[in-house]
Amino acid sequence: MPKSTDTTPSGTVAAETAATSRADAEQTLRVGVIGCGYWGPNIIRNFASIENCELRTICDADEDRLDAIQRRYPAVSVETDAAALMDGSLDAVAICTPIRFHYPMAKAALEAGMHVFVEKPMTDSSATARELVELAADKKRALMVDHTFVYSGPVRKIRSIIDDGQLGDLLYFDSVRINLGLFQQDANVVWDLAPHDVSIMDYLLQREPKGVSAIGSVHFGDQEDMAYMTVRFDGPLLAHFHVNWLAPVKIRKTVIGGSQQMIVYDDLEPTDRVKVYDKGVSVNVDDSERRRVLIDYRTGDMFAPKIDKTEPLFAACSHFADCALNGNTPLTDGEAGLRVVRILEAAQESIAKSGAEVTL
Ligand SMILES: NC(=O)c1ccc[n+]([C@@H]2O[C@H](COP(=O)([O-])OP(=O)(O)OC[C@H]3O[C@@H](n4cnc5c(N)ncnc54)[C@H](O)[C@@H]3O)[C@@H](O)[C@H]2O)c1
Repeated sequence: MPKSTDTTPSGTVAAETAATSRADAEQTLRVGVIGCGYWGPNIIRNFASIENCELRTICDADEDRLDAIQRRYPAVSVETDAAALMDGSLDAVAICTPIRFHYPMAKAALEAGMHVFVEKPMTDSSATARELVELAADKKRALMVDHTFVYSGPVRKIRSIIDDGQLGDLLYFDSVRINLGLFQQDANVVWDLAPHDVSIMDYLLQREPKGVSAIGSVHFGDQEDMAYMTVRFDGPLLAHFHVNWLAPVKIRKTVIGGSQQMIVYDDLEPTDRVKVYDKGVSVNVDDSERRRVLIDYRTGDMFAPKIDKTEPLFAACSHFADCALNGNTPLTDGEAGLRVVRILEAAQESIAKSGAEVTL
């Protein structure tokens, strides 16, 4: 069976994060990784390659998976019980297990005084996500969620274009993440795929959402395999997400509309993943004739900015090590994880209410 529908951003990353961590770090972060299924080996590979990290222990409940991993990393010790990693011999742990284990494992690690890097979504409820945020603050430990795309070159570039004011007023964020893929056991398509787009939206728009409405359908099994989610903000800004495990082709596309310029981000494009269109609408009011509203379309040039090609997960893991060693707050900290979980939870509630808006 093909493995998860949830794929590595094929994009790139902000290399400066890694560069800073290398320059600043004098100590070494002793890291353990829990979960080496589909995604865990990518986390293991990256922590193993970061200069100021020492990958010490890998844990998986499945011994066959551990055997396969240990052949690649013979110097690393292996464990089948995650509790063994909380004995004080490690500074940090990365949790790459199914979602239902994120909260109990992150909680145990923070209580043991460790820094925590946890896969997306941070937990399966806002109550547990909030608890982890408070615990990390109390213990003064870094809590970082792997919102991998936030560390990718295309998303970083789009953020700098928005911050420069090039788009003008933000009008909408519209994303499609669909393919034919594996049904997850403990997560529907909203909790599996939407964390990527919701975290991208959270990072790019930097606005507080006011309400979420969603509809979803169950065609096979007992979990939603497709969903349409809408996030409302104060004013006319709107965000929409389409996630689907039943599509014949893979699409990873986001359109961001602005009053001055618009962006199309296609993560599957081999080159020119981000395209900025100098297109828009201008509205004039004709006072001479009963205040008629005149709409004009502006169609200017398109340009594709240069994108940093560093692996996003390398930047994410390096950033985590940097934050843990230097006492800095991660870009995708527990608060960011909580913001994403709140939206997913509200979407789930709205689906149960046939699309009625859930206020945040
Ligand atoms: N950031 C990304 O781009 C990205 C991509 C894919 C998956 N993920 C996330 O990574 C996490 C794992 O997803 P996956 O697709 O690798 O799942 P998976 O099922 O392939 O792997 C999970 C692994 O955890 C192990 N495991 C389960 N319970 C355990 C326990 N109690 N103790 C120790 N090991 C245990 C399993 O044996 C398995 O090897 C999920 O949270 C998922 O959302 C993130």
